[in-house]
Amino acid sequence: MNSNQKSGKRFEKNRFFLKDHIRQQVDFSQTDQRRRVPAPPLQTPCPENCVRFALPDGSMALARLAEMSVGEAIIRRQSVREYNQDSFTLEELSALLWATQGVRAVLSPACALRTVPSAGARHAFETYVAVSRVEGLTAGLYRYLPFDGQLAQLTVDEQIGSKAALACLGQGFVADAAATIFWTAIPARMEWRYAVAAHKVIAIDVGHVGQNLYLACTSLGARTCAIAAYDQDACDRLLGVDGEDEFTVYVAPAGKC
Ligand SMILES: Cc1cc2nc3c(=O)[nH]c(=O)nc-3n(C[C@H](O)[C@H](O)[C@H](O)COP(=O)(O)O)c2cc1C
Repeated sequence: MNSNQKSGKRFEKNRFFLKDHIRQQVDFSQTDQRRRVPAPPLQTPCPENCVRFALPDGSMALARLAEMSVGEAIIRRQSVREYNQDSFTLEELSALLWATQGVRAVLSPACALRTVPSAGARHAFETYVAVSRVEGLTAGLYRYLPFDGQLAQLTVDEQIGSKAALACLGQGFVADAAATIFWTAIPARMEWRYAVAAHKVIAIDVGHVGQNLYLACTSLGARTCAIAAYDQDACDRLLGVDGEDEFTVYVAPAGKC
């Protein structure tokens, strides 16, 4: 057995997660969906007393993003870790959020289509934004409400950028971003349909979200950098999520440069 084969044995349990055999473990006649258990909400409800900000609508975002061809955006896309001090306009932030998690159509109370694909259209993510410099918004933590076209203000916090950088294992450039987006997973939304096969497709889904952010940033003359090296508990604490039924899966600082 060569050294590659030996390391293959060590990681076998984790590699299994990437294969489709996991689907064969599911008795699809017994999933929550098939047993007619109500689906989890498509968007986590927001506390009544939250201050909310209306976002410019999706067609406005589309017009901004269409200023660059998709081919050019693909060629120009790159991970950038230096941002200048310019702010995003609310319209630009709205375009980034719409491109990554915007709602295209609501098919039923249990199913909606968004600007990214998702296995079984389950869309198991919530979007949080650590805002440092966005025109019209006070610095702090916000949650995107794509079904309402709004941002809910969760905290007011001048230090949110440096807290986000600390939660990203001290990757200092995160503190310079105009805004840092955190996507959390709510696995129950996907488990409702796919049971133990849910987790692989959640991981695939979040890649689409990240790529749309890269392309949308490029079209707007902004930049981003995917971040997977983060402190799980610190990010979850920063967002105020429980780390079990909802937890951080992807972080992306963004800014002008
Ligand atoms: C899943 C994933 C995780 C990443 N995590 C980090 C990270 O924690 N910190 C960082 O500086 N870059 C991170 N990157 C960016 C990669 O280093 C970058 O994509 C790679 O160097 C290729 O450069 P390009 O994106 O400009 O083509 C990550 C990229 C991906 C796709």
